[in-house]
Amino acid sequence: MITVDSLTRRYGGFTAVDNVSFTARPGRVTGFLGPNGAGKSTTMRIIVGLTAPTSGSAAIDGVRFADLPNPGLEVGVLLDASAQHAGRTGREILTVASDTMGLPRSRVDEMIDLVSLTPTEAKRRVRNYSLGMRQRLGIATALLGDPRVLILDEPANGLDPAGIRWMRDLLTEFARQGGTVLLSSHLLHEIEVIADDLVVIGNGRIVASGTKEELLAATGTLARSTSPRDLAAALDRAGIPGTLAGDGSVRTDADPARVGAVALAAGIPLTELRSAEGAGLEDMFLSLTADTQREGVAA
Ligand SMILES: Nc1ncnc2c1ncn2[C@@H]1O[C@H](COP(=O)(O)OP(=O)(O)OP(=O)(O)O)[C@@H](O)[C@H]1O
Ligand SMILES: [Mg+2]
Repeated sequence: MITVDSLTRRYGGFTAVDNVSFTARPGRVTGFLGPNGAGKSTTMRIIVGLTAPTSGSAAIDGVRFADLPNPGLEVGVLLDASAQHAGRTGREILTVASDTMGLPRSRVDEMIDLVSLTPTEAKRRVRNYSLGMRQRLGIATALLGDPRVLILDEPANGLDPAGIRWMRDLLTEFARQGGTVLLSSHLLHEIEVIADDLVVIGNGRIVASGTKEELLAATGTLARSTSPRDLAAALDRAGIPGTLAGDGSVRTDADPARVGAVALAAGIPLTELRSAEGAGLEDMFLSLTADTQREGVAA
């Protein structure tokens, strides 16, 4: 179990992580989502002790990462696949890590095999690795100590389709056997397929968290109009609180028939009216983080 409790990290006057709390539970894959710069990597770095929090705390099964006697045996970490010694071969990197953790050398070959690096590739220097090969090596390093907890920042980044599917199966099986997985990704489809729980962050703050089913079901009705502000105001007058998202859509908890009736009575033409249920993770992600997206969101 990963417990994050009221984490805040400031850089000068800028708050990168703002009072963030969540848990990632054993037997579940927890997807950590948010736009670029939302604070995902910073939160993960704090969890594994690479960045100090300004306030708050994070623990793995109740223990701070820095206080774990042999962390590699408890927590597998992949944050930045390029943060390896570029002059070492893949095999050397795994061998050094394995010796540090006090593991048998046979584990190195097992991991090279597991992540499908060929023997020739394992002998190549990491500076000459492709992005996907670095990522595979990073996953091998994370799994080396047979940990119960995995913390992976964009692990699918650079993997080919077969690699993505392999990783999906690996993480699902890892969780099924009682492991805890926290993974960040921009690949919403990947997260939708693999995650049991979701934590959504925007501008350093948690904007939603819960099981995937809860979050995807709780999206209510989505309406679009040529004058979204008038629609939001008309709904408000009718006692239906709604949120006007950055993409010009209006979301409410009321059912579509009621929203349609209000729009008709107010003479506001609708361009779209539907139950947002089942709209999928992308819609949810974009509406929850609309205020924090750089691009605004295309309607
Ligand atoms: N050492 C630092 N000094 C100043 N600002 C920092 C530092 N580290 C991170 N930040 C800022 O904190 C914010 C969050 O960064 P972070 O890397 O956690 O985002 P992210 O959610 O992982 O984004 P991405 O999806 O692009 O990987 C960014 O605005 C970033 O510029
Ligand atoms: Mg990041």
